[in-house]
Amino acid sequence: MFKIFALSSLLLLASSLSADYEDAKELFKDADCMSCHNNEDFSPKEKKVTNFRKLHMAVDACRFANDADWFDDESQEVTEYLNDKYYHFKKK
Ligand code: HEC
Repeated sequence: MFKIFALSSLLLLASSLSADYEDAKELFKDADCMSCHNNEDFSPKEKKVTNFRKLHMAVDACRFANDADWFDDESQEVTEYLNDKYYHFKKK
């Protein structure tokens, strides 16, 4: 399990080097995330979304709740996109 995790984060690291978030923007738009959210939603919250990991968890929660048909790396990409645009957490 850990191995898979380590491997996938390595892959993500490699792919994030060329991050212009084109895919993430597309995914985000297609999944209609903004039908519930506005820009103000996406900011660090005390006791809730306080770091990158928690942001990723929130993205996953919403992705599953809304049946967004994303792969894990796509969810990671959207998380990075939102982080870059709104939250500015240090990536872990
Ligand atoms: C049906 C409405 C709805 C849709 C569609 C939706 N969300 Fe959410 N989202 C919520 C609600 C409600 C919360 C707050 C949950 C909570 O407080 O526990 C939330 C919380 C979040 C948060 C955490 C915000 C914060 O800083 O506290 C993120 C990030 C997020 N959603 C991302 C997404 C993404 C990405 C999508 C598209 C796949 C999406 N959401 C689609 C309702 C929605």
